[in-house]
Amino acid sequence: MTSPRHFLAIPDFTRSELLSLFDLAARMKRGDYDGKPLAGRTLGMIFAKSSTRTRVSFEIGAYQLGGHALFLSSRDIQLGRGEPIRDTARVLSRYLDGIMIRTFDHADVEELARFASIPVINGLTDLLHPCQVLADLLTVRESLGGWEGKVVAWIGDGNNMANSWLNAAGILGFELRLACPDGYTPNPEILERNRRLTTVTLTADPREAARGAHVINTDVWASMGQEQEQEERARAFQGYMVDETLMDTADTNAIFLHCLPAHRGEEVSEGVIEGPRSRVWNQAENRLHVQKALMTILMGDRG
Ligand code: CP
Ligand code: NVA
Repeated sequence: MTSPRHFLAIPDFTRSELLSLFDLAARMKRGDYDGKPLAGRTLGMIFAKSSTRTRVSFEIGAYQLGGHALFLSSRDIQLGRGEPIRDTARVLSRYLDGIMIRTFDHADVEELARFASIPVINGLTDLLHPCQVLADLLTVRESLGGWEGKVVAWIGDGNNMANSWLNAAGILGFELRLACPDGYTPNPEILERNRRLTTVTLTADPREAARGAHVINTDVWASMGQEQEQEERARAFQGYMVDETLMDTADTNAIFLHCLPAHRGEEVSEGVIEGPRSRVWNQAENRLHVQKALMTILMGDRG
C-alpha cells in the first residue's frame, strides 16, 4: 500500500504544488469548477479546541465537493478518554477517507499521520496553522497580485501563525519581518530553517517591521490553551497593537490581515479591523476555497 499524502505543514507541498493549489482554489472561488471529487467520501474532523471558521469551512467544503464531513469532538470520542492516537488513526482509517485534526501538541498530529492510511490535514496545533496561511496567501494574491517582491510584517506573538508564515516565506521566497517581544519569538528551528531560504528579520520594534510593508498581519496575544497567561501576555505585548498610526508607516496600499477571532483594543484597533485596508472577511472566506482545493488534491477521486 502506498502511504497517503498528508498536509501537516506548508513545506509538505512544493512551491509548484502550492501554486497549483491556489489556482484551483481561485477557480473554485469564481465558480469555474463543478466537480464532485469527494462524492461518497467522508472527512472526519477531530477537534480538541474550539473553532468557528475551520469547522464550518471544512464541513461546507466537503459538502460542496460531493462529500460529507463528520465532527468528532475529542471530548466525545474515546481519544479524549485516553485511547491511543495510533489506535484511533488505524480505526478511523477503516471508515473515513481523510482526517482533519485540531489539537495542542504537534507531535500528536504527526503520530496520527504516521499511523493513518488516509490523508491527515493539520487544522491547527500549538506549533502550526498551515490551512490558515494558505487562505492568507490567496488573500494576498487577490489583493496585491502576488507576493513576489512584497514585504509581509508579522506583529505580535511568535505563535502557530507566525511559524506557518515563516514556512510560507521560505518556500515562496518573499521577505518576512517579525516584531515579537522578548520571550515570545517564533520556534527557533523554523526561524533558522527559513532564514536560510529567504530574508527574515526579527525585531522587538513593531514600527521597524511595519515600515513600508505590504501586508500587516497579527493574531491574538494569548492563543487557545494560554488563557491563564492572558494578563501577563497583555503586559508583555504593550505597544504591539496594530492601530492606524502603525498602518500609516506601512506601504500606501498595504492590507491588514488577522486570522480571527480578534480582540479589538488589544492586538488590533477597531479602526484598523473595520477600516478600508482590512481584508479579514475575504481572508476568512478563503479558508473555504483553499481547503476545498486541498481536499480535492489529497482526498479527491482522480477518476
Ligand atoms: N482562524 C481560525 O482558525 O478560526 P477558528 O478558530 O474559528 O477555526
Ligand atoms: N493563534 C491562535 C489562532 C486561532 C485561529 C490560537 O492558536 O488560538
